[in-house]
Amino acid sequence: MRRAVIAGNWKMHKTQAETRAFFDRFRPLVAGVQHCEIVIAPTFTSLSAAVESSRGTAIAIGAQDVHWESQGAFTGEVSAAMLVEAGCRYVIVGHSERRQYFGETDEWVFRKTRAALAAGLLPIVCVGETLPQRETGQTEAVLERQFRLGLAALTAEEFSRIILAYEPVWAIGTGRTATPELAAEAHRFLRERAAEKFGRAAASALRILYGGSVKPDNIGGLMAQPEIDGALVGGASLDAESFAAIVNF
Ligand code: PGA
Repeated sequence: MRRAVIAGNWKMHKTQAETRAFFDRFRPLVAGVQHCEIVIAPTFTSLSAAVESSRGTAIAIGAQDVHWESQGAFTGEVSAAMLVEAGCRYVIVGHSERRQYFGETDEWVFRKTRAALAAGLLPIVCVGETLPQRETGQTEAVLERQFRLGLAALTAEEFSRIILAYEPVWAIGTGRTATPELAAEAHRFLRERAAEKFGRAAASALRILYGGSVKPDNIGGLMAQPEIDGALVGGASLDAESFAAIVNF
């Protein structure tokens, strides 16, 4: 049985004060939650506030990115060990906004995933096609390539610790969610790739989250799909009530 994960990606939102205010409202709303893991990924500068505010709760904190080197002359970057020290358990890797606006490649995704795993972080690795790619029938080819170049060279042990997130780029921040059936189809395709490379048992243990305009009113339909093991939520994770409604799907 795969344990569900509901993760919030705050992107470039919330100061430390706003982070603390969110947690003050959010904590009581998810106090008894057992049915899923709850993850919140604030900005680097709000990590410490989030870690403090979530202490003693079941809410885990993640970062939104990581560099693959452990230290060095990489202005603006943060290493996996630094994230662990800051109190992170998770890290998002290869989000489409990083790929689209910051030139992140599948090769970088691979290196970052490896570095995160080596430091003991649980990477949430994002894949997904753009609208033109979907409209020209390239969805499976794109997912296959992202999987092959980003993940297939992990060891079986490393692979057993990753979480995959299928995030069709056309559904991110657009209000246009993939239907549960369409998302499940992509998840099945990805699980097949995992089975080919790492075997049936590893593939069936792999958690695949869906991301892209997940809201309180569509989470139920998504989670009703056995292929969908949770959600990576952007916009709707910024509001405590709305994110709690998603967690309590
Ligand atoms: P969204 O973002 O929920 O605002 O569409 C999802 C994501 O980018 O992870």
